[in-house]
Amino acid sequence: MASVELHNIHKAYGALTVIRDISLSIEDGEFIALVGPSGCGKSTLLRMIAGLEEITDGDVSIGGQVVNAMTPRERNIAMVFQSYALYPHMTVAENMGFNLKLSGETKQVIQQRVDEAARMLDLTKLLDRKPAQLSGGQRQRVAMGRAIVRNPAVFLFDEPLSNLDAKLRVQMRSEIKALHQKVQTTSIYVTHDQIEAMTLADRIVVLNQGNIEQQGTPIELYRKPANLFVAGFIGSPAMNFLDGTVDGVDGAPAVRLKDSTPIRIAGERKVKAGQSVKIGLRPEHLSLASNGSPLTGQTLLVEPTGAQTHVLFDLAGDQVTAVVDGEAPVRYGQPLNVSITPEQVYVFDASSGLAL
Ligand SMILES: Nc1ncnc2c1ncn2[C@@H]1O[C@H](COP(=O)(O)OP(=O)(O)O)[C@@H](O)[C@H]1O
Ligand SMILES: [Mg+2]
Repeated sequence: MASVELHNIHKAYGALTVIRDISLSIEDGEFIALVGPSGCGKSTLLRMIAGLEEITDGDVSIGGQVVNAMTPRERNIAMVFQSYALYPHMTVAENMGFNLKLSGETKQVIQQRVDEAARMLDLTKLLDRKPAQLSGGQRQRVAMGRAIVRNPAVFLFDEPLSNLDAKLRVQMRSEIKALHQKVQTTSIYVTHDQIEAMTLADRIVVLNQGNIEQQGTPIELYRKPANLFVAGFIGSPAMNFLDGTVDGVDGAPAVRLKDSTPIRIAGERKVKAGQSVKIGLRPEHLSLASNGSPLTGQTLLVEPTGAQTHVLFDLAGDQVTAVVDGEAPVRYGQPLNVSITPEQVYVFDASSGLAL
């Protein structure tokens, strides 16, 4: 087990800069998710930590020791990728023990560690099978087993669940979380899927174009996004954004939408009268009860998901999504009446995108 420190990490491929001055401290035993859209530099950053990619500038430390010049093997990390990369001609047990064999461990030690990992991952009955005789989820579990047997200081995951179908992805996600709770090994998990990041991580680091936009616990990022990017990235369905101008209604602070519909905002927002802003409304905060600013629009789309229904409606010329109770009587083409309390309205500066 070990802490991981990134000091002013920079990465360029020729003239193309893909990581810009990233510093990050990861505590021993912590589970960190690096999340961001495709191409933002997640894999590049992870591969630099692993030693698979040269660091253009800056230092990576593992367990307090700078590892820039060390090979991947010397860093004592284990990596799990999207592609399982199992050896087809070897059994599950041989696949899991292969790295230990390369390191010159005795047969006895290898068997003991493989058996232990197999028990943890529910693979005991499959140890004699070949990869071709396994399902996708089982193969991914073998890939994780291969990482666990090495008892590494740090686990690195790069979108390990992307190849699995939706149901299996959710199941494997729970298994990874349960595994971390058992072994408590420092873990860095790369994903573009904010739900995976939210459900798995102690702390989420949101990346965008090679920069850290914000880091915090899943709930901190959900409740207090620092800017429009994080606000739009964390939460599902995504936050609705509407243009508006700061105004007052009956002496209380409010924002007027393009059609001058007023939406009250919390008193502590640092806004000036006349300021151009974007307001953010989370779909799950738009309530059918009338206990805040009333908002009305034409229903454009109704998507039942069971317990809840997603409703797309027209608000001041923009399309807005609300999540309402599955039993609610909402109909295509009918007016939808929802409301939102001032505390639930997010406000961002229109030009900087920063939360106000
Ligand atoms: N070997 C490479 N040479 C040039 N550009 C690269 C190379 N590897 C990655 N990139 C670029 O770096 C950026 C970040 O890539 P990557 O880290 O794979 O993103 P992510 O994992 O977040 O999807 C992308 O613009 C990608 O095209
Ligand atoms: Mg990637």
